[in-house]
Amino acid sequence: MDEMTNIETLQAGLLAEIDAADTPEAVEALRVRALGKSGEITALLKTLGAMTPEQRSAEGPKIHGCREAVTAALTARKAQLETAVLNQKLAAEAVDMSLPADMPPSGSVHPVSQVMDELAEIFADMGFAVATGPEIEDDWHNFTALNIPETHPARAMHDTFYFPDADAEGRAMLLRTHTSPVQIRTMVGGNPPIRIIAPGRVYRSDSDATHTPMFHQIEGLVIDKGITLGHLKWTLETFLKAFFERDDIVLRLRPSYFPFTEPSAEVDVGYKQEKGRRVIGGSGDDEGHGWMEVLGSGMVHPKVIEAAGLDPDEWQGFAFGTGVDRLAMLKYGMDDLRAFFDGDLRWLKHYGFSALDIPTLSGGISA
Ligand code: DAH
Repeated sequence: MDEMTNIETLQAGLLAEIDAADTPEAVEALRVRALGKSGEITALLKTLGAMTPEQRSAEGPKIHGCREAVTAALTARKAQLETAVLNQKLAAEAVDMSLPADMPPSGSVHPVSQVMDELAEIFADMGFAVATGPEIEDDWHNFTALNIPETHPARAMHDTFYFPDADAEGRAMLLRTHTSPVQIRTMVGGNPPIRIIAPGRVYRSDSDATHTPMFHQIEGLVIDKGITLGHLKWTLETFLKAFFERDDIVLRLRPSYFPFTEPSAEVDVGYKQEKGRRVIGGSGDDEGHGWMEVLGSGMVHPKVIEAAGLDPDEWQGFAFGTGVDRLAMLKYGMDDLRAFFDGDLRWLKHYGFSALDIPTLSGGISA
């Protein structure tokens, strides 16, 4: 009887204290006091061993009942207090999303990204889709299929970064040296007619004020029936007028050589010298003007069309390629290419674009 009262008193006292505990730490201290190694209920449990079987069957359920009641109370109180702590924290750290920002959003869009968006917008308006290809290429797509066989001097001119191992088909692996392999991938994978641009990163082992080991190109490819140099010239003229946002763009197509085009032309635009800067526009032959090379282009070589699995008697086309970084420098007046990749916040702040400056033909291509 005496023992019974003890258990009841102990239980009632513990439950009252658990109820009054006001931090999770206080609850934990009570748990140790009641159920820890030398806890009060633990001590009671230990007395069971010395009892006669009769005593044990009478006392056992009471002691275990006490332990269960206290354990349940501890768990419940702990959860309650933890919820309260969390709610308090949530209330204290709440952010009112309806308040005006005390700082405008920072960060800016890199000129290269901006120019790529501008180009995609301009060419989308002419019905071109954007195509992509891998930056880790094999030498068949990067060279062979583009009519640059192994012995071709152009391979040496590209300063290629090679990987030590060939792929499963025995093709040498490399970092693509230009975006032209996307021409091949698009022709192999798609059904003509084809009208694509392919912007992206390219790599060459080269580094000075105007060359970085990684830079950006954009490729254009049109494959259809009855395509002529006239289509090429109109497309480039329309593109450059939209890009530089002026109507007085004058092009000069200079005969040139690329293995993957025949005939090939390098495209110059006229510029005039204004306050020590070259401003695109006008004929390069006028007084005080000059010509600046901006693009490589030509009619896709029949061998290239054939390598990509199409019949060159049925399909013709033109292609062009140019450096995106250089286009950005020309349009926005930067003079050192290396600064593009330094990640200098002051440069990015000065030359970067707001995330809200999305180029659209209706709203204006540049910011
Ligand atoms: N792939 C050439 C380069 O990296 C650029 C180029 C020239 C691309 C003429 C073309 C083209 O598509 O027709 O120098």
